[in-house]
Amino acid sequence: MKKVLVTGGLGFIGSHTVVELQNEGFEVVIIDNLSNSKIEVLDKITSITGVKPSYFNIDLRDKAAVKDFFANNKVDGTIHFAAYKAVGESVQKPLDYYENNIGSLVYILQELKANSLNNFIFSSSCTVYGQADELPITENAPIKPAESPYGNTKQIGEEIIKDATKISDLKAIALRYFNPIGAHESAKIGELPIGVPQNLIPYVVQTAAGIREELSVFGSDYNTPDGTAVRDYIHVVDIAKAHIVALKRLIENKNKSNFEIFNLGTGQGNSVLEVIKSFEKVTGQKVNYKLVDRREGDVTAAYADTNYANNELGWKTKLSLDEALLSAWKWQKTL
Ligand code: UD1
Repeated sequence: MKKVLVTGGLGFIGSHTVVELQNEGFEVVIIDNLSNSKIEVLDKITSITGVKPSYFNIDLRDKAAVKDFFANNKVDGTIHFAAYKAVGESVQKPLDYYENNIGSLVYILQELKANSLNNFIFSSSCTVYGQADELPITENAPIKPAESPYGNTKQIGEEIIKDATKISDLKAIALRYFNPIGAHESAKIGELPIGVPQNLIPYVVQTAAGIREELSVFGSDYNTPDGTAVRDYIHVVDIAKAHIVALKRLIENKNKSNFEIFNLGTGQGNSVLEVIKSFEKVTGQKVNYKLVDRREGDVTAAYADTNYANNELGWKTKLSLDEALLSAWKWQKTL
């Protein structure tokens, strides 16, 4: 049985990936410091899969603890989700973001090298493309100057990993997520935003649930068919499954180079208003909203060219926007 470390394994994408790994017969070890997750998620994962993953409450900024973990755990692969992810907060606390997202990454890579552990998957983001000049966005699209320290940690993170693959036997894949949404079909795990949600879908579901009075639609004068911004919303379970495919690719030495990058998106762009309408249609719930000014740092449109991931990685999304929105609503109702 192959053993996989999942950092941030109790978080939104991490927890869904742990479930898929266990379903595929991997033995999972989670590291999570609960900075943006709840320990109850461990029991929820267990109740979905019937297997309790090993769990360590380790802060990955603790170099000695990271060293100790890898000295005692010979893992066949590492999937690194643990990171801060709030764009606005990163502007207020840039050094915290660099310390947590970059410091931890460096410590992990050092210990992978020291212990000759070679398979590494990194959570990157379509934010590295900024407003791309061409749509849909291929992996070859140029990287644009980061709009936020958060975005910068993804760009720098990729560079660090690429350099690390040059000086050791490390093999790595960076997965650039478009907009992950939705929840597991069991409604036992999902997104747990702390405080007022910054992302669209959590805000939509909380508005429908009456927790928020009204959704602000940021910008209605974009150069898009209905004036609202366009994104590629992808079901978190499809995202999770891509990690298993990527991990197997590395374990089975099917990678074409030691640092590979794949987009994870559906290839379909939807506007904010389309998302609201779809949500209302599939759930029968009304979403109060108003059109307001654009949000600083937002791009007009971003959606993935999926050819490379489909053909080379051999992964494709299976779930629709409607299914993702319905699952997000079912999850919200359990909260
Ligand atoms: C954001 C981040 C991105 C990060 C991703 C995951 C920015 C600029 N980008 O993506 O780097 O990887 O989250 O956390 O913040 N919207 C509203 N009203 C709301 C919330 C959002 O109209 O209350 C709109 C936004 O303007 C955007 C779309 O919904 O057009 C999606 O927003 P969001 O869910 O925050 O994701 P991104 O901004 O695309």
